[in-house]
Amino acid sequence: NNNVNSLRMASLANNVASELPNIDWDNLGFRLTTTDYMYIMKCSQGENFSKGELQRFGNIELSPCAGVLNYGQGLFEGLKAYKTHNGNILLFRPEENATRLRTGAERMCMPSPTVDQFLEAVKATVLANERWIPPPGKGALYIRPLLIGSGAVLGIAPAPEYTFLMYVSPVGNYFKGGLAPINLIVETEMHRATPGGTGGVKTIGNYAAVLNAQIAAKAKGFSDVLYLDSIHKRYLEEVSSCNIFVVKGNLISTPAIKGTILPGITRKSILDLARSQGFQVEERLITVDELVDADEVFCTGTAVVVSPVGSITYLNKRLFLLLLL
Ligand code: COI
Repeated sequence: NNNVNSLRMASLANNVASELPNIDWDNLGFRLTTTDYMYIMKCSQGENFSKGELQRFGNIELSPCAGVLNYGQGLFEGLKAYKTHNGNILLFRPEENATRLRTGAERMCMPSPTVDQFLEAVKATVLANERWIPPPGKGALYIRPLLIGSGAVLGIAPAPEYTFLMYVSPVGNYFKGGLAPINLIVETEMHRATPGGTGGVKTIGNYAAVLNAQIAAKAKGFSDVLYLDSIHKRYLEEVSSCNIFVVKGNLISTPAIKGTILPGITRKSILDLARSQGFQVEERLITVDELVDADEVFCTGTAVVVSPVGSITYLNKRLFLLLLL
């Protein structure tokens, strides 16, 4: 539409270098490649976000007393833009991220951009960094929105000022082995979330909490960690970076959303697709013991897309999964 075209013209006019980036599109992996522009928008507590702007990508200045630094008042999102063979740019369900950010902001006592403001920011940031979108089939432009308490606050309280930021990076496959089946280890001591906590929103602290187990798992050669519920210690929750699905015959099951699991947008899309393809679909409690009978297990997420699981190790026993690849 006209709005998008004018954003595209503005970004081209602004672009210091319209030549293609010097980048190996065939070996992107999931790491930061800095790009040209980021989007930034601010507001005070109790007010609404007003107009945001594009700025050159770079460091930001924060008070050492910022709410996000001291009390973890922060959320992030993740979504992707793809280039098609005819030069169009596709965004994958960005309004879902906008809505999820708003739900998370309520939990974390933060103001949040409206859905329209969020979508406007995504379009402006992607178009301003258009030359960094990988060619079709080579990967995607990963878009990382952040909502942080940027104002200074000493006692425990919501920060007086908030910053909404968005930066992008071209990315390829999330896991080191590319699209090869991943090997998970079930964590039995540490938990990712507890009932009544913040596991169901995309707050930054959820991801710091998984580092310890992840480092130990990677040191043993595993791709990632599968978490169990913290009460019964036997129901599947999610993997550090993605949701999990179990396939048995015509039945596709995934742990139900009950406040401790992130409501993934790829998760929701897979459920919709599976239903429309005639599979029986269940969102329910799944015990770790059920994995023994699974025909197939796979993970979903924006970063991991859909990743088949090749093995799951639980209490020192490795279960190899039959993969119909
Ligand atoms: C995403 O898929 O966007 C995520 O949030 C996972 C991430 C922590 C890499």
